[in-house]
Amino acid sequence: MLVEGPVEIVLEDGSTVVCDRFQVAVCTCRRSRAYPLCDTSHRRRRHTAHEE
Ligand code: FES
Repeated sequence: MLVEGPVEIVLEDGSTVVCDRFQVAVCTCRRSRAYPLCDTSHRRRRHTAHEE
C-alpha cells in the first residue's frame, strides 16, 4: 500500500519505524522481510510459496 511520506509507523510491540521518503510502500501482506515496509515479497507466486 503506497502512502504519502514521511511516516512514522507504530508496531504492535510499541516500537516505531520512521521513513522520510515522499512515498512509502507499507506491507499489508506480512510477507515482507522488511516489515512493516513492503519489499515486494507479495509478488511471489502462490505455487512457489510452499518452497520457502
Ligand atoms: S505488501 Fe507485503 S511485501 Fe508487499
